[in-house]
Amino acid sequence: MNENLVIEKIRPHTIKKFEIVEEYVKSWAQKLLNNSSCSNLVFIDCMSNCGQYYDENNNLIEGTALRVAKILKQCAQDYPNKSIDLYFNDIDPAKIDHLETLLPSNKNNFHVRVSKGDANDFLKELNKEFRNNRGSHYLLFYDPYEAAIDWDAITPFLNGWGEVIINHMVSDTLRAIKTAKSDKAVKKYEGTYLIDIEKLTSYKNKDDFEKRIEDIIKAVTMIKNMIYTFRLSHFLIRETDFFTI
Ligand SMILES: C[S@@+](CC[C@H](N)C(=O)[O-])C[C@H]1O[C@@H](n2cnc3c(N)ncnc32)[C@H](O)[C@@H]1O
Repeated sequence: MNENLVIEKIRPHTIKKFEIVEEYVKSWAQKLLNNSSCSNLVFIDCMSNCGQYYDENNNLIEGTALRVAKILKQCAQDYPNKSIDLYFNDIDPAKIDHLETLLPSNKNNFHVRVSKGDANDFLKELNKEFRNNRGSHYLLFYDPYEAAIDWDAITPFLNGWGEVIINHMVSDTLRAIKTAKSDKAVKKYEGTYLIDIEKLTSYKNKDDFEKRIEDIIKAVTMIKNMIYTFRLSHFLIRETDFFTI
């Protein structure tokens, strides 16, 4: 194991997040694989971590990357005429090196690609591949530690042939916004909520911040009659169709 790798210890709500995304991916994949207009499924976790965590009892737990890879590998076997691509990226090279040792291997119609770098740069490059590719349906998972959303990176995916799950870390905002003084912190919150910090500090609770994110999604999405958003705990999902979790 890479000596720079730190496998994180997580709390039960993070395990719940993995389970929610896992169940969502199962429904999403089944629905699209049974649709003749879909020839290619793409799952993207642009901040994927290393695939493993320790729970509170020090048991090793699989994260989103490994759970989704297993589900979609099985789908590739079950639907040999469809192709499935997975993209995992993280800024920490040690995490990606570790994840690579755990991921299933590529096979005819199943391909996993890993990369190391900034998630937003990665998405801006990747978006070029999906433009006008109507046979491909992607699901982008945007899962930062903090309340930091780069709308320039996400907006093309909100307007493409796919779905975006944003883990909006409103807990970060609620904890830190009132004391945000540094240019960096102010820029982060203003960039995420696209509003001046003075106005943001007048927001009262979690609902105000979540509604602001939902309003931004609606504002930046071009095809207005194709937006379906719902909040699940601190999740916001924009879909081209509605899949039951
Ligand atoms: C909440 S964790 C992701 C968990 C993962 N999606 C999962 O469900 O198992 C956030 C990850 O983002 C990575 N990260 C932080 N800043 C980043 C950046 N600018 N670009 C890409 N990854 C980043 C961290 O190294 C960390 O692994």
